[in-house]
Order: sequence, then C-alpha cells, then structure tokens
Amino acid sequence: MHRLVKQLTLEEKAKLTVGIDRWQTAAIPRLGIPSIRMNDGPNGVRKEDESVFDEVNGHGSFPATCFPCISALANSWDAQLCRGVAGQLGAQAKALGVNVLLGPGINHKRTPVGGRNFEYFSEDPHLTGELASAYVEGLQETGVACSLKHFYGNNTEYNRFHVNVKMSERARREIYLPAFERVVRGAKPRTVMAAYNRLDGVYCSENERVLNGILRGEWGFEGLVVSDWDAVHDKVASVRAGCDLEMPFRSEETVRAVIQAVQSGALREEALDRCVDRILCLIDDVKDNCQNAAPVDWQGAHRAAVAAAEKCAVLLKNTGGVLPLEGSYCFIGAQARENSYQGGGSSHVNTPFVPNVLAEAEKLTGKRIPFARGYSYAEGGAAEENAALAEEAAALARAHAVAVVFLGYNENVETESRDRADISLPAAQNELVARLCAAGCKVVAVLFTGAPVEMPWAESVQAILQVGLAGEGSGLAAARLLLGLENPSGRLAETYPRRLEDNPSYPYYAADPDVLEYGEGIFTGYRYYVTENVKPLFPFGYGLSYTDFSYGGIAAEEEGGRIRLDVTVRNTGKRAGGTLVQWYVSCPQGAERPAAELKAFSKVYLAAGESAAVRLYVEKSALSRYDEHRGGWAFDEGEYTFSLRSDCFTVIGAAALTLGAEEKTKNLFEEKERRAFAR
Ligand code: BGC
Repeated sequence: MHRLVKQLTLEEKAKLTVGIDRWQTAAIPRLGIPSIRMNDGPNGVRKEDESVFDEVNGHGSFPATCFPCISALANSWDAQLCRGVAGQLGAQAKALGVNVLLGPGINHKRTPVGGRNFEYFSEDPHLTGELASAYVEGLQETGVACSLKHFYGNNTEYNRFHVNVKMSERARREIYLPAFERVVRGAKPRTVMAAYNRLDGVYCSENERVLNGILRGEWGFEGLVVSDWDAVHDKVASVRAGCDLEMPFRSEETVRAVIQAVQSGALREEALDRCVDRILCLIDDVKDNCQNAAPVDWQGAHRAAVAAAEKCAVLLKNTGGVLPLEGSYCFIGAQARENSYQGGGSSHVNTPFVPNVLAEAEKLTGKRIPFARGYSYAEGGAAEENAALAEEAAALARAHAVAVVFLGYNENVETESRDRADISLPAAQNELVARLCAAGCKVVAVLFTGAPVEMPWAESVQAILQVGLAGEGSGLAAARLLLGLENPSGRLAETYPRRLEDNPSYPYYAADPDVLEYGEGIFTGYRYYVTENVKPLFPFGYGLSYTDFSYGGIAAEEEGGRIRLDVTVRNTGKRAGGTLVQWYVSCPQGAERPAAELKAFSKVYLAAGESAAVRLYVEKSALSRYDEHRGGWAFDEGEYTFSLRSDCFTVIGAAALTLGAEEKTKNLFEEKERRAFAR
C-alpha cells in the first residue's frame, strides 16, 4: 500500500477518486500530491484549449500531429509502425504536458456500422492484440501512460451510455476478451478505461466481475482503472467494483456519497484505500514524465505521418496494371482537394495540415492535373447541383484515358456517439462513379473511409485504392501511391461485405432498444464468412501490390508446446514492396469451430528480387476452445491444418499436424511456388 494512504483523511481519499475538472485529478497540496492530466487520444494528442471554439467538440485543442486513425494503422498489419507512431504520440503528449494519453481503443469490430470503428483495430482479436501491444509499449516507453479502452463490450455506439450487452461465455472468452488480455498481460498498460455500456445488466464501471474479477483477479492487472467520461452512475458501487478514478468531475455529491458510505459501513474503507493506492502509484509514476520534454519537430512528425499513411493503404483492385498512373488522367471528386482523414468525437485532432491529394500530385508531377468536383455534400435540394457536377465530370473523363475518382464521407458520418445508418457512400458519389464508368475511360476509385462501404460499382472500375482515414499525411501519401513513388502494402484488417445484411450481427443489431444480444456468438467477422462460405466483396487479410511475391518451403512442425511455422517469401517483381505472411488454423472436425482462424502473421518488406525466411510460432494452448459446459479451455485432439493464405479465403499452401496424444505430421499439399498476388 502506498505510504501516503494512511496519512490521508477520509475526505481527501474520497476526493482523490474523482477528477477536479474534465481532465485532471485532484491534488492534495498538504502532502505534496500533485494533480496529473489525461487527454485524448489514439491518433493525435487532443489537449483542449478553452480559449478556442471548435465545431466538432465544442472546445478546440492545441495543434498536434494527426496520425492515421487506428483503423488505417491496423491495415498496415505492421507492429513496428504502431510502436513508432505511438512513440511520436508520447513525445507530443510530453511536450504538451499530458501525463496520460487516453488510448488506444481496442474494441472488437462486430458490425461495420459501428460509429467508432475508425478508432478500433480489427475484427480479429489476435491481430488487435498484437498491434495494440506494440502501440502501448511504444507509447509507454516515452514515460507517458496509456489508457486501454473501452473495457469491454462497447462494440457500437448504439444507445452507448446504457445499452446492456449480452454474450455467451464462449464469445466473451474467444472473441471479446483476448485482445484486452493480450495487451494487459504482455504490454502492461498503466491504466484501463471501463466502458459506458452495461454487461449482463451491470455498468462496466460498476461491474465487480469485469474489473476486480476478470481484469485484476484473472489477469493480474496492477494498474489503475478509470471510468469512461460520465460513465459512473453509482459511485459507491464503482469503488467497490475496483473502478479507481471517476472522470470527469461531476459534483461534490459524489465525494460525499463515498464518505457517507464508509461512515455508515456500506463501503469497506479497504476498498477505498485500494483505489487510492492505485491512484497515488499512478501519480508517482507519471507526475514528472513531462519534465524536460524535448521540443517537438513538427515538420519531422508530419513526415512521419505521411510515411505511416503510405503503409496503411490497401490496393483492392488493379486490373491491367492501371495503377500506378501514367499517361493521360484526370482527378474527380471533392475529396481530391480536401479528403477525409480522421473521424469525429473525442479523438478529433487539431492539425494545421489539411490533406489535398490534387495539390500534392501536382507538386510531385510538376504539372496541372485536370480536375472536376463531381459531387457536393450539401444535403437536400442538391440533386440538381450533383447532376450538373456529374455531367461536367463525365465530360472531363471522356477526354482522358483514366479518371481517378476520390470518394468518402464528410466528417459528421464516421463519428463517436452515433453509428452509421448503413454502409453506403452518398448516393451522388455512387451515381458519379457509374457515370464515369459509362464514359469510356478507365476508372480508378480512391476511398477515404474508416470502415467498409458497399461498392455497387466494384466490378465496373479498373482499380480501387483504400487509403482510409489516414491522418494529415494522407493527401501526400495517396498522391505518392497513385503515382507509384510508393507501393501499397496494406491488407484489410476487417471484412468488406457485399451488403451490410451479410454481416452476421445484422439480425441482432438494434433489435431491442436496451439490449444488444450478441446472437452470432463466436461467428463474427471473417470467422462467419469463411465458415458459411459467404463471399464478401473483399475478405479479411486481402490486399494487392504493384509487385509480385512467391512463397516456398511452407511447413508446420510441432516443437515442444508450440507449432513452428515456416515459409520463404520472395519478391519476384521489379519494385520494392511489402507483403503479409498470414497463417490460419483449421481445427479438427466435429467441434463447432470456425473454418479458419488467424493465429500468426508478419509483415515483410522486400526489395525487388529479395527473399526472406519467415519463422513464426503458435502456442499449442492458443488452439484451444472455450468449453462452456466445463467452464474452461479444452484442447480438441485430432488433425489441425495450418494454412498460409493470401487472405482468409485463399490458401497458398498448407500442412497438417495431428495433435494430441500422438502427434504426427503429414503434408497436405505438395509444396509449390505459388504466385499469390496478381497485379
Ligand atoms: C470517450 C472516451 C474518451 C473520453 C474523454 C468519452 O466520451 O468514450 O474514449 O477518452 O470521452 O474525451
């Protein structure tokens, strides 16, 4: 127990468990206890500046670098990149005097309509766990603490303050908890933020089973739990459950409630002491972490944001090698001049750099690129304006071999607090693409969205590049990728369904205003699509490159308590590029398991002609399933297939191992060099 706990009065202890304003903890000057500051957020530091008003969040914030949103970062599948970006965030947080940065958000993407999906990594817990761990380590290495959020079950914004989430124990254990567990055990986040929603009827900030039970009891979390902002409804219950700090300040009532509860015996003082102990330890750890912060090299950080954005883009289609651009082309769409690059809500960063692909491409090529606006975002009565803009754009397209059309939402659509109503782009944009396709030129679609969209024109266009909400560097990054100065290497960290209705959570979404029943169980995201063989528009793990790769020496061997997975990757094309080694496991027949589950991955960047041997390991225990009847993990004996895939559907090669009492290895497929990624 922290030495100062004993010296604090009951009132001081109660005070410490509530913020003093929106962002700071209480100070107790008589004992030299300072207050510390926490601010958002995951893709840039948002330290509020009360002297400025901003339309998105009320108060504006001090300028800071806007790095790619987490959903874009996840498409890089690059743990080193996540670590590096988080390190930059830490440096800026220190320079701005922020002791705790409120991120990353790692909630599982259950439905593509989730309003905050742009803040979250993936629909796969293994991928989320690995990337978020690198992020947390990179941030905390700077001395700035992180807040891993939102623990847990906050998978949409639907009635987000009150909704009661119900899921099976198996889904909890196999899907919704593992990423949190991986990060908590491995990367040791200094704080965890309890989510807004209720789980099994109890608010997360007041949920004994969630906080003292799973997080602390099962996983040994020793850090501090902070409530999400205004998430505490019953302060005494939250202290009892192990939610140490309530943010932000609500009223003196809250403090009095704690004092009275201790005095009346309704709350044991030891429970309060444990919260205070953890608050004091956090304060000790971070109170000096901003001292002597190095001045930020803002231009350098901007360049890092561009480099990061380049690694996040996913090339979804490239028929006939229409990309990289050459010859005669024009740019179309309002998003070419000011593209979407971040979402709305608490993560919103105030950056002075507004991405502009058109201007960047003109600078890079040294020539004027013909441009037409193509559509307007204006709501209501815009049909005529849009028809005229589309007509003008089609005329421009007819005069060029290639029309590059830039698409995305305005900032009010992908935002905290509200889910998307559907996953369509604005109708004017889809109609514009159809007109361009009819114009007789080749069409390249460039997307700036933080989540999947339906693409009714996917068959008709020649190329699709998903840049994502990729931060302030996304304009220059997109220009460099389109012109071939960089090679896209991202892979989808989530499924792009053909239609929203194909998503397995669809029948359960908003079926009841107060309850979200996770009826699809563990068959969420690609686990559902591969098992039921429902072909999505673009599968999880998918992405192309401007170069080609071959794969050889595919092998899986049991080695002690783990499986060794080997492959040699070669860049057989003419330019440098990145590819993804992704291993899936298919478990023995009989048990109700997904047809394939990601178990190991590594992002590999190779020069033209270069090859690399990639060896990865999977713990045998990671092959277990949660057995609800026994209330624990079970290992199914039998034949496991380890397949190297170019996306969750497409097998490049595989090996089978019989695991159990008698482990035997046999090769399923002949090893053969396979060209995985067609141009
Ligand atoms: C969000 C958190 C955020 C907090 C502080 C809440 O509304 O859910 O993610 O960290 O506000 O801005």
